[in-house]
Amino acid sequence: MKVLVTGSNGFIGSTLVERLLREGHSVRCLVRRSSNLTWLNDLPVEYVFADLNNAGELGGMVADVERLYHLAGVTKARDEAGYLRGNYEATLQLLAACRDSGRRDLRFIYVSSQAAAGPSAAGRALNEEDPPRPISVYGRAKLRAEEAVQEYAREGFATIVRPPSVYGARDRDIYVYFKSVARGLLLLLGDGRMKISLIHVDDLVEGILLAGESERARGRIYFLSSDEASDWRAIGSIIASAMQKKPLVVHVPVGLLKPVAWMSQLGSKITGVPALLNPDKVAEMLQPGWVCSNARARAELGFRPRISLEEGMTATAAWYKEMGWL
Ligand SMILES: NC(=O)c1ccc[n+]([C@@H]2O[C@H](COP(=O)([O-])OP(=O)(O)OC[C@H]3O[C@@H](n4cnc5c(N)ncnc54)[C@H](OP(=O)(O)O)[C@@H]3O)[C@@H](O)[C@H]2O)c1
Repeated sequence: MKVLVTGSNGFIGSTLVERLLREGHSVRCLVRRSSNLTWLNDLPVEYVFADLNNAGELGGMVADVERLYHLAGVTKARDEAGYLRGNYEATLQLLAACRDSGRRDLRFIYVSSQAAAGPSAAGRALNEEDPPRPISVYGRAKLRAEEAVQEYAREGFATIVRPPSVYGARDRDIYVYFKSVARGLLLLLGDGRMKISLIHVDDLVEGILLAGESERARGRIYFLSSDEASDWRAIGSIIASAMQKKPLVVHVPVGLLKPVAWMSQLGSKITGVPALLNPDKVAEMLQPGWVCSNARARAELGFRPRISLEEGMTATAAWYKEMGWL
């Protein structure tokens, strides 16, 4: 089957492309002329060079594909306009290209984010029926993109998946914790008891494929997370044992976060580089939890995450070491 993948050179996209090729699909990768193709090099894929924010470059590329996995997105931007451009406006352009193609049988699978749904209350996992309450500009931009995809789903076949934090080989976000543990330090916010859902990239890719295959998935939204949520103390200690390290555990007082975030944001305005810590990130860290339930994906898609946190973190640590990242 011929498929198109946007965001194909990124962390999740390149892992999806490898899996699609293993399954025997013919894969068209949408990349930009400026994209780093390291993770796609040597793979037998077809490239189309286009920027999703440039409608003029998108004509014709979906005319002969049966599935479109839309993973392109911006998780770090300097300002709200950057998040909207990279997530919402880019999705609008792609949907317009799908409409123009006249292909009603095309399946459109959009990789959104748990951020579009917002945080969970203490002790309760979010499900897809909960009204979305994003608390960051990123989450709001993803939600607007979801709304556009749902509108498209009235006329075509579209499905939305929402992963929580994703980890695994090639990830550079949770990698920060590995790097810190390698240096002998494990930083925990407050008491480290905030619970989050996580998913290993290979389990996520499995869920994305299932979403693309199921008739039932038409117009549906699915959280794709591991079965159990974990708190940061547990995650930190699993990372430490995956690396066979005994780091010094430092509890960062919650009150320190806001001033540091404002300074980091100011630095970002001056340098133009997105801040690692900003007021949105702090707001996210101060929530009771970020836990979502995969019950609907289990029931409707047959989704079964297979990789335990211990197994996944151990494999990820081994990959970072092999690549010389640690
Ligand atoms: N990683 C996570 O923990 C996580 C969690 C939940 C949801 N998600 C979602 O999953 C998707 C993939 O995330 P990721 O972690 O794999 O991100 P990533 O490694 O940063 O990849 C993002 C991809 O999007 C592409 N892209 C961005 N703007 C584009 C545009 N205007 N035109 C064409 N391509 C564009 C990037 O291309 P360039 O290389 O050219 O920039 C890159 O290929 C995103 O939509 C993200 O919101 C990620």
